[in-house]
Amino acid sequence: MGELRHMLRDDDVNHEEQKQILELGMKFRADRFYHRPFEGPQGVAVIFDKPSTRTRSSFSIGVAELGGYPLVIDKSGSQLGRGEPVADTAEVLTRMAYGIVWRTFEQSRVEQMARVATVPVVNALTDEFHPCQVLADFLTLAQFKGGVDNLENLKIAYVGDAANNMSNSYLLAGAVAGMDVRVAGPNGYLPDQKIVEDAQAIAETTGGSIMVTVDPEQAVDGVDCIFTDTWVSMGEEAEYAIRSKPFWPYQVNERLMGLAKPDALFQHCLPAYRGKEVTTGVIDGPQSVVWDEAENRLHAQKALLTWLIGKQRGDESLLS
Ligand code: CP
Ligand code: NVA
Repeated sequence: MGELRHMLRDDDVNHEEQKQILELGMKFRADRFYHRPFEGPQGVAVIFDKPSTRTRSSFSIGVAELGGYPLVIDKSGSQLGRGEPVADTAEVLTRMAYGIVWRTFEQSRVEQMARVATVPVVNALTDEFHPCQVLADFLTLAQFKGGVDNLENLKIAYVGDAANNMSNSYLLAGAVAGMDVRVAGPNGYLPDQKIVEDAQAIAETTGGSIMVTVDPEQAVDGVDCIFTDTWVSMGEEAEYAIRSKPFWPYQVNERLMGLAKPDALFQHCLPAYRGKEVTTGVIDGPQSVVWDEAENRLHAQKALLTWLIGKQRGDESLLS
């Protein structure tokens, strides 16, 4: 019996399910054609209301490698961009596509899509969350730090704009994984209390822990990986001038990296702004794994799509 599942935010999967998807991601890393859940050109709609390089290429190539056909739709070339209701778009796409992947603005939009769609809906970044990115980031941790089973023993820190989509996703996904998660940003750029509470409630069930602080040094002390992201997310470009100032103490530089474990990794979802949120020395240095991280978008998302299709079909063979 199949079960329709979506990936709208990181806690749409539980601890065991996240591990299952990441283990599948490790298998796709080792063999690009480990599973081919789509037979023939079954279409998956991949919609962009915001720019993208990595998400666009990894979903396009990923769907093709899974045996499907990626139908990439840009806002400017679709009726969604002219105000067609999300629910109407969902009615149409769900009759044609085998999955809907969407990068958009408010989280409520992907939620609306998922309420109508009868195929899996995947959040490819909203203002609130970027769950596909964090699956890839955790796959990268598994790759370099002892496998999927070791994730729950890791400490991670995200430093910078702690109110953005990446920060929220690290809080939730890290809690699901059972990690020690620390998030640091300046006052005014800290996560919503509701998200912190959600993450704390999950961490209580997985053995993880959550710290939110304005002190970047406290956050990175002894961690296995430091993450950061742009100080100006898509849609916030008008705030560029006011956003530049408060984040300087949160720049990931050699001094901050030196407070983490000696073998700590550096990750950044990209695109990166060298000399702003991260120094060239760190992002292009020996502890940085950003290119593996970017590659892992492909493997992690193929795993996620295969897992969602497996769940929908009730086909256990696709889950591992
Ligand atoms: N990290 C990420 O999502 O990159 P793109 O915006 O290029 O897709
Ligand atoms: N926080 C960034 C992530 C880009 C992948 C943004 O939303 O623009």
